[in-house]
Amino acid sequence: MVEFERLNIPLVTKIGLGYRLISIENGADGALVGTLQVKQSNNIYGADIPLLRFYAKHESENRLRVHVTDAKNKRWEVPYDLLPREQPPPLKQSIALSSSSEKKKKKKKNHQRSVSETDYPGSELVLTYTSDPFSFAVKRKSNGDTLFNSSSDDTDPFSSLVFKDQYLEISTKLPRDASLYGLGENSQTHGIKLYPNDPYTLYTTDIAAINVNADLYGSHPVYMDLRNEGGKAYAHGVLLLNSNGMDVFYTGTSLTYKVIGGVLDFYFFAGPSPLNVVDQYTSLIGRPAPMPYWAFGFHQCRWGYHNLSVIEDVVENYQKAKIPLDVIWTDDDHMDGKKDFTLNPVNYPRPKLLDFLDKIHSIGMKYVVIVDPGIAVNASYGVYQRGMANDVFIKHDGDPFLGQVWPGAVHFPDFLNPKTVSWWGDEIRRFHELVPVDGLWIDMNEVSNFCNGKCTIPEGRICPNGTGPGWICCLDCKNITNTKWDDPPYKINASGIMAPVGYKTIVTSAVHYNGVLEYDAHSLYGFSQSIATHKGLQGIEGKRPFILSRSTYVGSGKYVAHWTGDNQGTWENLRYSISTMLNFGIFGIPMVGSDICGFYPQPTEELCNRWIEVGAFYPFSRDHANYYSPRQELYQWESVAESARNALGMRYKILPYLYTLNYEAHLSGAPIARPLFFSFPSFTESYGLSTQFLLGSSVMVSPVVEQGQTQVKALFPPGTWYNLFDMAHGVVSKEGTYVTLDAPLHVVNVHLYQNAILPMQQGGMVSKDARTTPFSLIVTFPAGAKEGEAQGNLFLDDDELPEMKIASGSSTYIDFHATIKDGTVRVWSQVQEGKFALDKGWVIDSINVLGVTGSKAVMDVSESHVNVSITEQQLYGQGDDGGSKVVMVGMNGLN
Ligand code: NOJ
Repeated sequence: MVEFERLNIPLVTKIGLGYRLISIENGADGALVGTLQVKQSNNIYGADIPLLRFYAKHESENRLRVHVTDAKNKRWEVPYDLLPREQPPPLKQSIALSSSSEKKKKKKKNHQRSVSETDYPGSELVLTYTSDPFSFAVKRKSNGDTLFNSSSDDTDPFSSLVFKDQYLEISTKLPRDASLYGLGENSQTHGIKLYPNDPYTLYTTDIAAINVNADLYGSHPVYMDLRNEGGKAYAHGVLLLNSNGMDVFYTGTSLTYKVIGGVLDFYFFAGPSPLNVVDQYTSLIGRPAPMPYWAFGFHQCRWGYHNLSVIEDVVENYQKAKIPLDVIWTDDDHMDGKKDFTLNPVNYPRPKLLDFLDKIHSIGMKYVVIVDPGIAVNASYGVYQRGMANDVFIKHDGDPFLGQVWPGAVHFPDFLNPKTVSWWGDEIRRFHELVPVDGLWIDMNEVSNFCNGKCTIPEGRICPNGTGPGWICCLDCKNITNTKWDDPPYKINASGIMAPVGYKTIVTSAVHYNGVLEYDAHSLYGFSQSIATHKGLQGIEGKRPFILSRSTYVGSGKYVAHWTGDNQGTWENLRYSISTMLNFGIFGIPMVGSDICGFYPQPTEELCNRWIEVGAFYPFSRDHANYYSPRQELYQWESVAESARNALGMRYKILPYLYTLNYEAHLSGAPIARPLFFSFPSFTESYGLSTQFLLGSSVMVSPVVEQGQTQVKALFPPGTWYNLFDMAHGVVSKEGTYVTLDAPLHVVNVHLYQNAILPMQQGGMVSKDARTTPFSLIVTFPAGAKEGEAQGNLFLDDDELPEMKIASGSSTYIDFHATIKDGTVRVWSQVQEGKFALDKGWVIDSINVLGVTGSKAVMDVSESHVNVSITEQQLYGQGDDGGSKVVMVGMNGLN
């Protein structure tokens, strides 16, 4: 038996003999519906559920669902209105043990472990099952590879399937060389690949991202499995759609789920490419929310901007330092007594704040504020009064559950209740009338509570007064251990210390709308709040909402962006930020970033230099710091300011590319920041690479993430890569190789791959200005190419619209193409929609063609044989001949 040494948790529990299949039939909708009967009951972690319903359906050519639940009694599962999807048929009231099943029982010995196969026309996935003991497997039809297999070895009498009220277990075997990604949120201390013998506990928890392999803020029970067979890569995805707490153990050759409730609801996604997997995954869970253009600008935040003049100063200092800035944020400092939706009349007086907002809005800048879920218990506070009147809070023993967060004693809104959703939307509207904020930051929504158990406010005590720092519990509380929800039989490794499931959150016997238990819905808190907040913001002006959420669940990407929580200003944390960001792309939440320079403690100057060089290329790029940290805005050190001007300068030039990736993410789930294997799935060398990343398919960032380094050893997949900063240097990598690049303090290496067309603009201090500047296209061919093709695209729209789609007049979508043949480069475009761009008067004023042999380093269109045909319906070229100016850059400078 393998032991997880640190925790002393037995990996394979060897609990029972599992189930046998006693009936199976084809349902009307092509599904397979079977009944499973427990073989031998025991009481470990509770009684076995005697009869289970097994339901399997090929929901599309590349998606298979396997759903197992109690055959007789309805069980908790992720609500269908929260995460819309097909519902399995209702349970049958009575299940006859049919004579055929009796016969099957008698012939049990012969049937043991014989495999039945269900093939579904057109599907790439094949489901097989054995009857006694029952197990199932999923295979890839095109190559016969087994992707998931719940059977035990022939010699092993124990089954991997255990199904009790509060304990579900199932395992799959895996090939030794599989590369797995996902199962978060955790701090990814071992890089992007799942690391054998680390427990992955999924249960939303407010513990700082510095904790190693603990259950952090989000819960995403999904992984991608990338395999390579004879040089060809195949990726598939596996989601266990279950919101209960779980431990997932990966040994390197198997994966075991131990879940404390709900149902087994597996979805298998056939891929075969990593991009296909996220496409198939997000087609089920919801496509990522479109983000407004300004969200791709740089954001500055900190906890402790004590008054309005401080943020006025910050904005001014960014301008003085000539560092781009789009968004200024306030943490809870603008609030009155840390109460949501209020303004501190002294430190953030409304008239002055409105003047400030007028000023920044007029130059295109935005303002985002924090909102926590805990609503202060305070009889004279309108938000609380209306919440009580509408009965919106989670209850315990019939009363609103009492916890403590920053404002002191609080109640927590129950976002599963439709009344709460309306009340919350109304509070957002009221606040927006007070302060026209441009987005909301929903924090502490795991949900975080500074107290444990059932609490009361001691007579006369004013929390958090007099009881030490704000996060020390100031209520009188009693731990609750006398219910099976507060003290479940199986203990997940909660908070990384096997804490009780109610530790620093709501007690798990508390009750939501319709009797739903906190025990079941705990990890859905941030997700349900995200949906309510999205609805509220969209309802105000019909604009595209921007929301940043700390806690996320499967499907959150449809509503919110995410940052990785309270990280540390250390080199390790800089490295973790890359893996975590890449994982969130796989989770369908592509708008992600980490606190640049670290939340706490104070970073060194060198680290902050390097961090902005990475963070400038996070999809969501924000500097944020803790209350107790010294100031760390990018202008605080001249050296950091220089690195920021350099790295953010490039970000602001490639904003059209980032925004086009935003569109692609919304269309197909494609991550904005991606591991290298997304573009090079057969290049096995890249599978574990956690210190470099791609933006889209062609831009590669290779930052310095180690102290004291002025060079970086970067992996270059096969092909030609051009340095995006100077467009003259580059790397020709024949078979994929590591290259040592110079990286002095202010230099971050960013390369553009061959065969690409990258739309760029000229940058600016605010994205609103940057986006009005002329375009240039960077066209790349393999070094010395005599023949070849390049492609790229561009999406532009009115980013205030709630929807992001190709539509006449409100958006422009262009595919760019280029070929090189017989010494002639031809660049042209196919315009799907063009009117929007034409109206704006945008132009392409230069085209840079990189990698062309024999040409002069710089060549003007009039001297060359280049045939540029940009049709007049779209972005129009300016040049001597009415076409674009074309700059050809040859091989010079390539390593
Ligand atoms: C916790 C968040 O993670 C952090 O970013 C924020 O500054 C504090 N809460 C205070 O609101």
